Amino acid sequence: DTRLGVLTSGGDAPGMNAAVRAVVRAGLDRGADVYAIYDGYHGLIEGESHIRKMGWNDVGGILHRGGTIIGTARSEEFRTLEGRRRAVRNLLRHGIDRLVVIGGDGSLTGANLLRQEWADHLQALVASGEIPQEIAARHPFLAIAGLVGSIDNDMHGTDMTIGADSALHRITAAVDAIASTAASHQRTFVVEVMGRRCGYLALMSGIATGAEWVLIPENPPDMDNWEERMCQVLREGMRMGRRDNIVIVAEGAQDRHGNPITSEYVRRVLEERLGEEVRVTVLGHVQRGGPPSAFDRILSTLTGVAAVETVLEATAESEAYLIGIHENKIVRQPLMECVAKTHAINAAMAAQDFETAMAMRGRTFQE
Ligand code: F6P
Repeated sequence: DTRLGVLTSGGDAPGMNAAVRAVVRAGLDRGADVYAIYDGYHGLIEGESHIRKMGWNDVGGILHRGGTIIGTARSEEFRTLEGRRRAVRNLLRHGIDRLVVIGGDGSLTGANLLRQEWADHLQALVASGEIPQEIAARHPFLAIAGLVGSIDNDMHGTDMTIGADSALHRITAAVDAIASTAASHQRTFVVEVMGRRCGYLALMSGIATGAEWVLIPENPPDMDNWEERMCQVLREGMRMGRRDNIVIVAEGAQDRHGNPITSEYVRRVLEERLGEEVRVTVLGHVQRGGPPSAFDRILSTLTGVAAVETVLEATAESEAYLIGIHENKIVRQPLMECVAKTHAINAAMAAQDFETAMAMRGRTFQE
């Protein structure tokens, strides 16, 4: 009688449904009972009303749908020991001791914490009479597998996060659309794309659309007067007959001193120096919603199946694993290492050590 739970947590990402479907069906196929935990850790803490046993057909017709049908949330309560204790209590009440978490680095860090604290929580719950000793004895450890769901592609341990490819498609289509109106009016557009700390979406959409200039957090312009250089490039293009100019700005773009470079700032600079009207389009949550790309459906399905295998094989000695893709193969790595390296990259950027941050981003696997 093996029971596993699946939840989605943090910002939603296209492909999460495909992952939930894969986890439910792979679990059932291998003879386990699978429970969906609705609304992420919030639902885990709420318990009964948010935990539901899933059948094969409960995940039918969702492969192609955006968002996550089991809901997601950012839970403050899960950050507290008390919140996590309630989460453990609710898992035990349903006999669940294997968990697949689909979320970003914060959500996966939380999952690992739950696993590390498991024995302490058991003891406390038995001592308070909330959980009978024989139930606690049946679930000596919590097995965790994490899938990275985030459009940002900002996590160490996988070449691609679930949702990044779909968001990139959405951005590419939007920039194509903007470029046609820009060309008609011979205009310059600034397009702001998501990616809190990671320039992946900005950089790749810049390549995919042939944008004139791209600003990303990891690699700020290395000259002091970058604004003038940007304008030169744009002027040169126009002189050669180019009718549209596109500048892509990642939402977390910054200069070498760590000051934010906002899309509004770029617009002002361009208007002043080019002497023309410049429009800004902030793509916003359009990038995060809508159907997943074929790649994201496949990535979610393959990693979802691997996550089920990982938690079903787990023993008390096993680590928590992150399941990702590297060089076109599904791989698993210790979750905590991936979280630690992701945090190290973010810390390097916060300290304006962009060289280290860039080197670490490009060196996901070989140390
Ligand atoms: O991490 C995904 C992401 O979409 C980021 O790109 C963005 O900065 C953030 O989430 C926005 O979060 P929300 O609107 O959900 O608060």
